[in-house]
Amino acid sequence: MPANSDDPRPSRSQVSRRQVLAAGGTGLLAATASTTRAAARTRKARAAGGDGTPEQIHLTWGENPATSIVVSWASPGPATRPRVRIGQRVLLAEPRQYTDGINGETVWTYHARVGGLRPGATYAYVVTADNDGNAADPFTATFRTAPYGRAAFRFSSFGDLATPNTAWVLSYGQSAYAVDAVESFQPLFHLLNGDLCYADLNPTVQPEVWRDFGNNNQTSAANRPWMPCLGNHEVEFDNGPQGFTSYLTRYTLPDNHVPGFGGRWYSFRIGSVLFVSLDADDVVYQDAGAFVTGPAVLTPAASTGNATIEPGTSFYIRGYSGGAQTAWLERTLAAGRDDPSVDWIIVQMHQCACSSSATGNGSDLGIRQQWLPLFDRYQVDLVLNGHDHDYERSFPVRGADPGAGHEVATGAVVNTLRPHPVTTTDSGVFDTSQGTVHLILGCGGTDAPLDEYGTDAADGSPFPGGRPPRTPHPSPGGSPPRTPPGQAKVFTRANRPEPTSTPDVFTRAAADAAEDAIWSAKRDTLTGYGIAVFDVHPDPEDFGGQTSITVTQYHAVGADPVNPATGAKGAPTPDYTEFETFTLVRPRRS
Ligand SMILES: [Fe+2]
Repeated sequence: MPANSDDPRPSRSQVSRRQVLAAGGTGLLAATASTTRAAARTRKARAAGGDGTPEQIHLTWGENPATSIVVSWASPGPATRPRVRIGQRVLLAEPRQYTDGINGETVWTYHARVGGLRPGATYAYVVTADNDGNAADPFTATFRTAPYGRAAFRFSSFGDLATPNTAWVLSYGQSAYAVDAVESFQPLFHLLNGDLCYADLNPTVQPEVWRDFGNNNQTSAANRPWMPCLGNHEVEFDNGPQGFTSYLTRYTLPDNHVPGFGGRWYSFRIGSVLFVSLDADDVVYQDAGAFVTGPAVLTPAASTGNATIEPGTSFYIRGYSGGAQTAWLERTLAAGRDDPSVDWIIVQMHQCACSSSATGNGSDLGIRQQWLPLFDRYQVDLVLNGHDHDYERSFPVRGADPGAGHEVATGAVVNTLRPHPVTTTDSGVFDTSQGTVHLILGCGGTDAPLDEYGTDAADGSPFPGGRPPRTPHPSPGGSPPRTPPGQAKVFTRANRPEPTSTPDVFTRAAADAAEDAIWSAKRDTLTGYGIAVFDVHPDPEDFGGQTSITVTQYHAVGADPVNPATGAKGAPTPDYTEFETFTLVRPRRS
């Protein structure tokens, strides 16, 4: 790959020549329209020529992370005998392909399930095919299996990554540094909390956007599992019943054993932690999937046979599982809490129950109605989200305050089921057996300066995480002025497309309700970019016989394209520094 002054990143010594070759073409570069067209021509030629060179190589956990892993990849054309070599074993990969429903391009992917591994062991592997252009020097990398039993480990998380190719809508150079950041912390695995690459916002080139995403991720995801969940931007027109075909074809995820809904939600177990990954598209009121705003229609390629999509059309999938996901969630949580070897339950999903973003989406009543009661009943410790491109932490919450919200348009009281904080003392140590902590981690790499949070114009409430209050509230008894809460927007009904004053142009409204966000404990107002790192300490150590997880949020100050506080232009940066550290504790089960 040639040097390019548009590439925001320094040369990365950890990127091997094989990885560079596998990345190929313009995948990591800020492309111009002409380079994009040239790359498309090259891809078509490679596909027609049957180029089976592996690219977009990434790992996910198998059914048991201590003993199994899945190696997945793609190639420009159909691969002949795609395979993984690990030790003396050669494993043929399962081919899986689809044809994009908008531009008609076919995507070839491969998945090799590797079982029979030793816990806590490091393995080298090779990915190749008979028609691998790098057959003489094929791609190789190493990974580590999960430890067996009650062991310490580290994982990391963010969502909303996008790609570094700024030719694509919502892509930004920070997404390359974000992948590097994962590698710098060397976690056992990474949780990627939805809105992977925003291909739906680039509807005529979706496979190309996914390709840039996969090649950017490979720098880390070929070395350690990246476990994704579905976000609203994985919902694509004409790609399957929920629009998930691009995602589901690329990922092989643990089986949820729910017929017809494989890959959409799942769980896995590492040490004393049960991880539960959900698709909140199924329960949220908000309509934020694929959308034709107009005035132009979206016309799929003739080869697809798909009909023109008219302005004002959105792909709204709330309720698609007919309750199957929520029933599975309850079974999974109940079994987890019944298991004496499980201390912690950590949930990953894209959309938010506790976000007070002002310029983003906010919170959604659908999650509060359907899933928060289950999180309470089964003492879910931690919920990791994306969706809003910032960092926000809640106090531990349990139960709901009724009638705490109001309708934005009329001021009428609305029951937003506002999560009830069990404490509003930001002590830095939280007992999650008493309440669930929610973290908004939509701080991956996407191009949207959204680290702005809601204030209440009526009481001038401030930003608890940083800026001083404009009008501090006096508190009774002469104690220091109390920092009043920020304000959160809440979707309590579907914001389906509505016509604007411009003919054939449609819009989707912001959230219809608001509430004082008394559950909000910390917000990062300095940058919308960061990564959360979690260190699980299964043995009781410093917290009175309790098990603990130390959480540190690192952020990339200055990376915002435009700083919302100052208006100053920023630029992608490799520098991630500590924003805050806190500790979750709970009694050990056995
Ligand atoms: Fe989202």
